[in-house]
Amino acid sequence: MMKALKISDLHVKTRDGKNILKGVSLTVKPGEIHAIMGPNGSGKSTLAQSVMGHPFFKVTKGKIVLDSKDVTRLSPDKRAKLGLFLAYQNPIEVDGVNFASFMRLATKNLLKEKLTPKEFRNRLEDTANKLKFKDDIFKRNLNEGFSGGEKKRSEIMQLAMLKPKYAFLDEPDSGLDVDGLRHISEVLNSVKEDMGVILITHYQRILKYINPDFVHVLVDGRIVESGDSSLMKQIDEQGFGRYESK
Ligand SMILES: Nc1ncnc2c1ncn2[C@@H]1O[C@H](COP(=O)(O)OP(=O)(O)OP(=O)(O)O)[C@@H](O)[C@H]1O
Ligand SMILES: [Mg+2]
Repeated sequence: MMKALKISDLHVKTRDGKNILKGVSLTVKPGEIHAIMGPNGSGKSTLAQSVMGHPFFKVTKGKIVLDSKDVTRLSPDKRAKLGLFLAYQNPIEVDGVNFASFMRLATKNLLKEKLTPKEFRNRLEDTANKLKFKDDIFKRNLNEGFSGGEKKRSEIMQLAMLKPKYAFLDEPDSGLDVDGLRHISEVLNSVKEDMGVILITHYQRILKYINPDFVHVLVDGRIVESGDSSLMKQIDEQGFGRYESK
């Protein structure tokens, strides 16, 4: 069995018929970090959502294979159970559920290992400490009244609790101050182990803490260039202008 998340020639359109992804191929192996950069509207979030199985996006061609299993037509829930995870660019607000019970539900539903309440509590507290969350976070309603930075940290906290096989992080660095960026990076580095990570970002400042093995540039629904982290620095200096009119 080949261990990898293999996206092949993925074509995706929205439910209302707009073509967004026009043949994306990407193979992410356990332990690798792939950064995806690209101008606004180029399809980065769509790629993440499509791989997770968001019903708004329709795969018209190509496939998504997770450790040799074709998941292209599976429900989002089944994909999550197989080890796919997405931390959203704009986390949704959920009313009436506090953070601790949400995490308890998610881990119960998605984790193969059965955590006792005590083990669960320990893991939760340990991760919260690393992320410098105060205790009252557990009692607060999910995302309600969270600051932008707290939302981002709570997403990384979910990742640290769930330890998926492959994780999309959609702009985990947006809206974080320097300390916040360092904290989420530390947590990511410490839980990563053999996780395959696809990190969508606009800024190379995250490179200070996280070292991607590959950098891909997505323009108008296609990967137009791939390279190592030096590509990120180039883009930071030159922008995406050189990919236009191709
Ligand atoms: N729910 C939606 N309804 C209609 N169009 C959509 C929807 N989601 C995305 N699109 C369109 O798909 C294209 C790609 O959007 P996407 O969010 O994937 O871009 P992105 O690369 O993540 O951009 P950004 O850097 O701004 O986050 C855009 O033209 C966008 O308007
Ligand atoms: Mg986006």
